[in-house]
Amino acid sequence: MKAIEIRNKYLNFFKNHGHVVIPSAPLIPENDPSVLFTTAGMQPLVPYLLGETHPAGKRLTDFQKCLRTNDIEEVGDNRHLTYFEMLGNWSLGDYFKEESIQMSFDFLTKELNIPIEKLSVTCFAGDKDCPRDEVTANCWKKAGIPVERIYYFGKDDNWWIAGEDGPCGPDTEMFYDTGKPKCSENCNPSCGCGKYVEIWNNVFMEYFKGKDGKYIKLKQHNVDTGLGLERMTMLLEGKETPFETELFAPVMEKLQELQKIDDIASRRIIAEHLRASIMIICDGGRPSNIDRGYILRRLIRRTIRHMNKLQISLDELSTLIDINVDNLKEMYPALEKNRETIKTVIIEEKDKFVKTLTKGEKEFAKEMEFAKQQNKKVIDGKVVFKLYDTYGFPPEVTEDLANENGMQIDKKEFERLFKEHQEKSRQGAEQKFKGGLASTGEMETKYHTATHLLNAALKQILGPHVHQRGSNITAERMRFDFSHDSKMTEEEKQKTEELVNKWIAEAIPVEHMEMKKEDAIKMGAEAMFIEKYGDIVSVYKIGDKSLELCGGPHVSNTSELGHFKIKKEESSSSGVRRIKAVLE
Ligand code: ALA
Repeated sequence: MKAIEIRNKYLNFFKNHGHVVIPSAPLIPENDPSVLFTTAGMQPLVPYLLGETHPAGKRLTDFQKCLRTNDIEEVGDNRHLTYFEMLGNWSLGDYFKEESIQMSFDFLTKELNIPIEKLSVTCFAGDKDCPRDEVTANCWKKAGIPVERIYYFGKDDNWWIAGEDGPCGPDTEMFYDTGKPKCSENCNPSCGCGKYVEIWNNVFMEYFKGKDGKYIKLKQHNVDTGLGLERMTMLLEGKETPFETELFAPVMEKLQELQKIDDIASRRIIAEHLRASIMIICDGGRPSNIDRGYILRRLIRRTIRHMNKLQISLDELSTLIDINVDNLKEMYPALEKNRETIKTVIIEEKDKFVKTLTKGEKEFAKEMEFAKQQNKKVIDGKVVFKLYDTYGFPPEVTEDLANENGMQIDKKEFERLFKEHQEKSRQGAEQKFKGGLASTGEMETKYHTATHLLNAALKQILGPHVHQRGSNITAERMRFDFSHDSKMTEEEKQKTEELVNKWIAEAIPVEHMEMKKEDAIKMGAEAMFIEKYGDIVSVYKIGDKSLELCGGPHVSNTSELGHFKIKKEESSSSGVRRIKAVLE
């Protein structure tokens, strides 16, 4: 069964079970500067999982474009992907365990015709925070899974949370038995040997984990599920890896035809990273040296390095992009419209990288000379790492070059430095998820403060019904979404602009305070999702104009902002307007 057929079957099945099909949110989160990319279908739905009313109702379903980069270095093996599509269905305070499990069981066995014998499931074993999930196990038994294929595991396997805090709960995972022999007597769905492939995860989201690590019960019982489309396609097409499915096959075949050196891991990396890059660019991402842009840059660079490794001309990039777009446009129609933009962005980035590589070669020659002068036979791990990190030289390339010069490289030291770096970036990504704009530049900081002023000004000009619905900041501009029903008049826009500029001219200090959440609420502090915060909150106060819960960072005085100008005011979604503005 083709991926798109699985997707359609899924959405139809849940539609027939009272769900409304909602569109996939962009890969680049619209309203959440604290995360780099959308990593799960639930992410755009967090406010609703926490109790806000969703306009489409209590039963939702969608396909969600997702990107996870934690395991980027693992891509090349037979299963890791950065970009993937997640099919999901949600109950926002509607059905719970029994109905959710019955629907999953029916979908797998009746719609996808997976034999019951192929299915195993896991449930939460219980711990000090939450009891053993017998209810879930009983629902599976009732649906028709025999007890010997119902397993219990702890939080590591059967608990789901996005990042460190937020809505979460016990989950139940469904596994497909590939029929491979057991790896040991104790072989089970959590052992990772490859016999069992996880296909679907239903999270019973009834807790909220605060920043203090404490779990509190959510008012609402939600269900959040995620089914990985690439994996399901692989299993239903009887393939061993996603790269053999129709999603990747045309690109993989072309790479095989073009390559002068044979290496399956490199072919997979090229196919996977190119698809991910294309999807990011299609949703507006551009390469840069920070955050999202840096991830895109890494994906493109890795693609190029592996093309070099297979000795495929970089001029073939354009053809490879075309093959991808042609192959995927039925699933993602926006690809066709963005075909040329995608090519331009990737090819420009390639040109930049080629220049960097040339510089790297020069740098290598210098290091080589230096090592020779010192009578060294081994190139320092530090140097190998610098060539990797700054010039994008994979250690294999440095090693080849070293060997050509009769030298070795200190691989052990390189690997140690590499691991250290990887750990740092992982922590960085987690930090980012946790809250923040920790690595925000000067301009972004200014825009961040400007959103607070704009929020306050809009309340004065349009009325107290105005609340922030989202924002998105780059070094060049800010975007601010807020609740308001009608188009702003020219006069309203002008007055808003004037008010913000007046406050900037007044040179008001921006104060940072930490206080109890309840005190902040009493003081009337603004907050997008009050439940998202722990007991002690960070609050920014701008004179008597603005008081908002916010992780910062901000400028210390409004006079730093310059001149504020509204560039555009338009509809964002029903009942939500969007302002694009700049600081000049
Ligand atoms: N949010 C859950 C997951 O990503 C469904 O697995």
